[in-house]
Amino acid sequence: MSTMNPKARRRLLKAGTSAHYEDAHYYDNAYRSRKDDVAFYTDMARSKGGPVLELGVGTGRVAIDIAHAGIKVVGIDRMAEMLTRAKERIAKLPKEIGARIDLRRGDIQRVRLGKRFPLVISPFNVFMHLYELKEIERTLQTVHAHLTPKGTFVFDVLMPVPGALARDPSRFYKSRPIKSPADGKRYAYSEAFQYDGVRQVQMVTMVFEELGNHQNNFVTPLAHRQFYPEELKALLHYNGFKIDAIYGDYNKGPLTDESESQIVVARKATR
Ligand SMILES: C[S@@+](CC[C@H](N)C(=O)[O-])C[C@H]1O[C@@H](n2cnc3c(N)ncnc32)[C@H](O)[C@@H]1O
Repeated sequence: MSTMNPKARRRLLKAGTSAHYEDAHYYDNAYRSRKDDVAFYTDMARSKGGPVLELGVGTGRVAIDIAHAGIKVVGIDRMAEMLTRAKERIAKLPKEIGARIDLRRGDIQRVRLGKRFPLVISPFNVFMHLYELKEIERTLQTVHAHLTPKGTFVFDVLMPVPGALARDPSRFYKSRPIKSPADGKRYAYSEAFQYDGVRQVQMVTMVFEELGNHQNNFVTPLAHRQFYPEELKALLHYNGFKIDAIYGDYNKGPLTDESESQIVVARKATR
């Protein structure tokens, strides 16, 4: 990707930031067993109190648990498909719980609600869809504009794994077949990984091949900006934040080379 012309690269990044979220039922099914982060963010909401602002709310995976805990959430996302699915899920909740969630379609780089929150969260790699410095900085300004003076900002991104980023880009790594919630069909599933070390973007190509019928094969790209720990610290520092903790797991364990995610807890820096 580092040698691509800028127009083609922009097109690829656009696909890599939206394609994975066009089938929101698939998203919910694929991540249904991911629960530790939900418990962590819900505990954060309990200790800070609401309302909470969730940047990149998706299908409401985290927001719904926070609402169950009695706390109001405003959730922003730019993908209509994810928000439609969130609304479907919310419609099934008891009325008083569903009423605590306010969904808005918008871009987290630009949204301004004219309101401040004691807790702003951005769970599950949302920041990995911010590819360029200006996109990251604009989003940090969004956070700044919405945090109360003593508010807390919590988000997570994957920990870059040098070996994984160095994988042979022409190789397809097979996983177990999956059943699509959209059409009920079974697909062989494999992934290929290409890493642009100049822009620190990993492109994951997810390949779905229908078992016994290759007419319904499809490919979903996913583009993830990689953030190195020291880089995260610098980004937050130079954009007006003070870091309280960077955890390496959702039980608040330390960040190590083996950590899957970097979970950052920060607040506004005061002079
Ligand atoms: C991996 S999902 C996480 C969703 C949710 N926070 C969760 O934990 O399940 C990433 C979400 O971020 C959203 N997103 C990415 N970039 C965005 C942007 N610039 N503005 C608004 N939403 C964005 C995507 O549409 C997607 O729904």
